[in-house]
Amino acid sequence: MIDEGLKQFFGVLYQDMPHTELLQVNPNHPNSFVIERAASLLRAGQVVVFPTETVYGLGGDAMQPQALERIFAAKERPYSDPLIVHIAQEETLEMLTTTLPQQAKTLAQAFWPGPLTLILPASPRVPQLVTAGLSTVAIRMPRHPVALALIRAVSSPIAAPSANRFMHVSPTTAQHALTDLDGRVPLILDGGPCEVGVESTVLDLCSPVPTILRPGGVSLETLQQVLPEVVYRKQAINEKHEAQSAPGQLLTHYAPSVPTFLFEGPADAMYRAMLAEIQRRQEQGERVGVLIADEDIATFAVSGARIYTLGSASAPEQIATRLFAGLRTLEEAGVQSILCRGFTEQGLGLAIRDRLRKAAGGRVLTPSGDA
Ligand code: TXA
Ligand code: MG
Repeated sequence: MIDEGLKQFFGVLYQDMPHTELLQVNPNHPNSFVIERAASLLRAGQVVVFPTETVYGLGGDAMQPQALERIFAAKERPYSDPLIVHIAQEETLEMLTTTLPQQAKTLAQAFWPGPLTLILPASPRVPQLVTAGLSTVAIRMPRHPVALALIRAVSSPIAAPSANRFMHVSPTTAQHALTDLDGRVPLILDGGPCEVGVESTVLDLCSPVPTILRPGGVSLETLQQVLPEVVYRKQAINEKHEAQSAPGQLLTHYAPSVPTFLFEGPADAMYRAMLAEIQRRQEQGERVGVLIADEDIATFAVSGARIYTLGSASAPEQIATRLFAGLRTLEEAGVQSILCRGFTEQGLGLAIRDRLRKAAGGRVLTPSGDA
């Protein structure tokens, strides 16, 4: 997927890092010597992986182009994909933006620190590597104590994409980040598993109507309680070969390396279709993995598929927390396909469905009830 020439170019930036250090950090009361160690690397233009409440981030000083280049190099991410800038206090917005709409103040008041990213008019001081040359910049204030302590210690905003290789599933543990970035970053801070489990909601405040570009940790319903005019336009299933409306909207963005299939529709028809597909694949000698809810265990127990349960289908927060770990666990278990059940779109369900559709890269099956 990544061009060989690009790899060789990026190689210059990460080849000299044979060893990645993993340091434990207390997630609630970050140890000051650990934070200082990470902060000194960041001040020197290096990159560090750190926990946030959503997923692990690969951070670099947002004002140092050298650090930003290292982020793209470690992830093998194309420069056309802009980065989110993480701040620890609202005053930093003055340095990063030209104007602050009233909507931004209202939303920041209600949801920061937390899993909401706002797209705002970019100040000319923001490096082009952050914005990918756009006139806007993505900003969020995370609520994880380690992330906040780190930003404060560096005294500069931190640009941080998710700490996975480009096109892979976002990491929700330090081990996930190590799997993807070992030998490419000097330090990973291990603050345990992430609380939310899906990335922040990206909300565009530079379009005529506040528009969700990526559903995430703050639900549409919750945003609308504060700003009723917020909208989300769902993408059609098979848009994957068409031009993308916004950066980061690629349908295969979160793909695990194993072909993944999402089953939706009425429960009975969905179960029947999944069981039939498991059987068909097993007859061809395939090892199949399924991502299901706790309530589905009895249905799939004797199917012969490798099972990963995400939590109760009626508790989207639980499902979100375990979703990416589920995809990675099945992938590492060596299954040759992953079949996943669909979930409701309420609350965090919208983000869950978005990530599953992207993991499935358009392979969404909706069996009807009357099969
Ligand atoms: O929860 C999160 O947001 C995590 C943690 C580490 O904070 N970060 C994260 O970053 O998910 P990343 O780079 O994996 O996703 C950032 C998304 C991408 O889809 C990117 O295209 C979009 O934000 N984005 C960034 N700047 C943008 C801009 N100016 N306009 C539109 N989209 C933008
Ligand atoms: Mg990402």
